[in-house]
Amino acid sequence: MAFPPEFLEQLRERVSLVDVVSHHVKLQRRGREFVGLSPFKQERTPSFTVVPDKGFFHCFSSGEHGDVIGFLMRMEGLSFPEAVEKLAQAAGLEVPRDSPEAAAQARRRRGLLEAVEAAAAFYERQLRLPAGRRAMDYLRGRGLDDNTITGFRIGYAPGDSAALMQALKRGGFEAETLVEAGLFRQREHEEEPGASLRNRVVFPITDRRGRPIAFGGRTLGDAQPKYLNTPETPVFRKGEVLYGLAQARDAAWRAKEVIVVEGYMDAIALSQAGFAHTVASLGTAFGENQLRALWRLVDEPVLCFDGDEAGQRAARRAAERALPLLAPGKSLRFARLPDERDPDDLVRQDGAAALRAVVERAQSPVDLLWSSEAEAVRPDSPDRRARFSRNLLALASGVRDETVRRYYEAEILSRLREQFGVNLRPETVARRPSPFLPGGGRERGEAQAARLRERWVRGVLAATINHPALALEFAQELAELDCDSAAPLDRLRHEILGLAAGGEGVDPAGWRAHLEESASLSNTVRGVLCEAVYSLAPFARPAVAEADARKGVEQVFAEYRRKAAERDLKAAAESADDKESLERITAQTEEVRRLRTGDAM
Ligand code: UTP
Ligand code: MN
Repeated sequence: MAFPPEFLEQLRERVSLVDVVSHHVKLQRRGREFVGLSPFKQERTPSFTVVPDKGFFHCFSSGEHGDVIGFLMRMEGLSFPEAVEKLAQAAGLEVPRDSPEAAAQARRRRGLLEAVEAAAAFYERQLRLPAGRRAMDYLRGRGLDDNTITGFRIGYAPGDSAALMQALKRGGFEAETLVEAGLFRQREHEEEPGASLRNRVVFPITDRRGRPIAFGGRTLGDAQPKYLNTPETPVFRKGEVLYGLAQARDAAWRAKEVIVVEGYMDAIALSQAGFAHTVASLGTAFGENQLRALWRLVDEPVLCFDGDEAGQRAARRAAERALPLLAPGKSLRFARLPDERDPDDLVRQDGAAALRAVVERAQSPVDLLWSSEAEAVRPDSPDRRARFSRNLLALASGVRDETVRRYYEAEILSRLREQFGVNLRPETVARRPSPFLPGGGRERGEAQAARLRERWVRGVLAATINHPALALEFAQELAELDCDSAAPLDRLRHEILGLAAGGEGVDPAGWRAHLEESASLSNTVRGVLCEAVYSLAPFARPAVAEADARKGVEQVFAEYRRKAAERDLKAAAESADDKESLERITAQTEEVRRLRTGDAM
């Protein structure tokens, strides 16, 4: 089966080669590479090399060489499609089926990219023509030199639409493609589509390989809005793009630093001032995908948002969003700009050294959250201090990585002790659910209890689909699992049991396909193998080692048995009226106690 090249490319970008290899090989960083002992040959000196930048590995002792897909094929004995399926599942990507539609879509994307590239070239030319004179003066006036203007491929979109339309039609593009690429818009009451950006300086937004995928345009005067982007298209998804990433990449690697700013002009000005490792978040909220892209380059990107209130709010939101994702060695820092200024203002007015100093002083997430929470709550009375403590500890408890979370909690407790003289004991910290248990035990009421049970069921089913061996192992428990009212889930459970009983082999991709087809359960399967379930039941993720998945499933079943025993006990106690039921209750109390101690381990 052939996969669309765009998909494979996206997969290679989304999956971290180093992460995948690290499951099998202990790697050590050596400059831009990682080395370790060959997994293919017995050896005592490491000759196995991973080059994350290029996305390949090379084994000098065996001559093996390849990308992340090849590595998985070789390591786990998978076929190409199997390896692709497995990586796609781990990355949460839908595998496009090889269909005429998929092929057509790939052609369409190529067409869009070509149109955007042609427009970029057109805008660049316009900037150098008499019509672009004012725009050029504007850029010069903002201190940009020729190298910078060329390097970022800055251009000018003329005031009327006709020239662009003509140039692109001459290049063989259909008007329809130009609209789909976001370059033109069909406005009401107008016959011809009009250019999206007019009489603006334009900044091509590129993908990670430096290919233009969209444009931002800045007005030369006071026209509103100041910045206008071309709309989202099949090749431009805002939350995934960082402006300038393609150019910043190499410098980021070398400097082991990335600076994230809010605006186009900030990124460009910093780059010109010697901070080539700068990217911009494009005014949108700085999101998970962007952070992950940066973590592939450096351990701690530095956010350098505007010094005004909006910028500081954005920084705080970024900190909150990043917190759950932190891992040992993967964090971020927050630079605070003086007096309402933005990074561009600072380097132009005070020079590169001033910006350097600001970056050096960048705060850790704890510092930022502590100070911004203090500003918001003003912990000057016992009541407010209590609220302050609770808010911060709640934030810390959201860190998913256990090691990081513990350090965060310890740090906050120790600061509270120091500042307020209060010795909060760890028990007063809102207890976190076990990392293996979906949800948490804090919900109340029957409906919530049922919802909670359903989440457990989903987590367990996901784990058994991703690790069919577990379905065989836990067949007994699965058979007794009560899916309450969720009929499709129950059917899925039966199908899984059927597969387990029939010894259908233990290939997850095969299982999944079978489940989706045999009982037309594809929607149910998708509702189980999805981020919503994985985030509550991390053990069920396809990339988790089987031993850990097993531990998670065991814990869920233990908890499940305990809850069931408690329910029985309650029911018995309510109807107890004679000696016999009293004995039953005693036995059940014993059982509950036994199960509780059992899962305390
Ligand atoms: P700012 O308003 O902080 O502008 O917007 P700036 O970067 O300082 O711009 P200059 O220096 O006046 O040229 C920061 C970013 O927010 C987005 C843009 O991406 C901009 O670079 N933005 C801002 C918009 O998308 N639309 C707007 O109207 C304003
Ligand atoms: Mn500015």
